Amino acid sequence: MTQSTDTVKSNRRIVGLSGNWNRPSRTRTLVKAVLDEAELRGLGQTTLFDFVDTGKSLGSIFSRDEAEPSAKAVMAAVEMCDVLVVGTSVYKGSYTGIFKHFFDLYDREAFADKPVIITATGAAPYHESILDYHLRPLFLFFDARVASRGLYALTDDFASQDELKPAYSTRVARSVDELSEMLQRVCA
Ligand SMILES: Cc1cc2nc3c(=O)[nH]c(=O)nc-3n(C[C@H](O)[C@H](O)[C@H](O)COP(=O)(O)O)c2cc1C
Repeated sequence: MTQSTDTVKSNRRIVGLSGNWNRPSRTRTLVKAVLDEAELRGLGQTTLFDFVDTGKSLGSIFSRDEAEPSAKAVMAAVEMCDVLVVGTSVYKGSYTGIFKHFFDLYDREAFADKPVIITATGAAPYHESILDYHLRPLFLFFDARVASRGLYALTDDFASQDELKPAYSTRVARSVDELSEMLQRVCA
């Protein structure tokens, strides 16, 4: 039986991984905003994870086999999803160590051809370069399909740690526009 396009869309797994280990978190809020917009448009079903979900022992392991069940479950969901939305805060000019460590535990082929939206939050406007100098090369290494439009949100873009200012919604919408176009090309 042939599935309708709508059925395929509603089954798509869109996973967000926010690199925070404290809540509330601006990074988590930014990743969630992208997921919420994607779900609102019917692009798929969304799930959001962060490093609270993996557990603290993630930082002490050298291989995926050593991960505790909670971290293994997050790693599997991130690998098996159809679309990945990642976010990190800028720490010392780059992604956080735990964010990089998490992705260091995957094989080279883990994200081949997967659509990925890259996002980051920071205090300094000039550290928007994290998108193109750190996050994009990392996911291109994995041969992911990295959306050209990444999102960077400054502290001033947030009304609170849990809420982006309404003006930022245009940028989120444009990012999800691009995701939608990417998915149409993949499904065509
Ligand atoms: C230890 C530390 C280092 C930071 N380094 C930078 C930095 O190099 N550049 C920058 O723009 N912001 C930097 N920040 C600010 C955070 O990136 C920013 O507050 C971020 O939105 C926090 O995200 P969160 O709420 O998800 O933790 C730093 C913050 C901390 C606590």
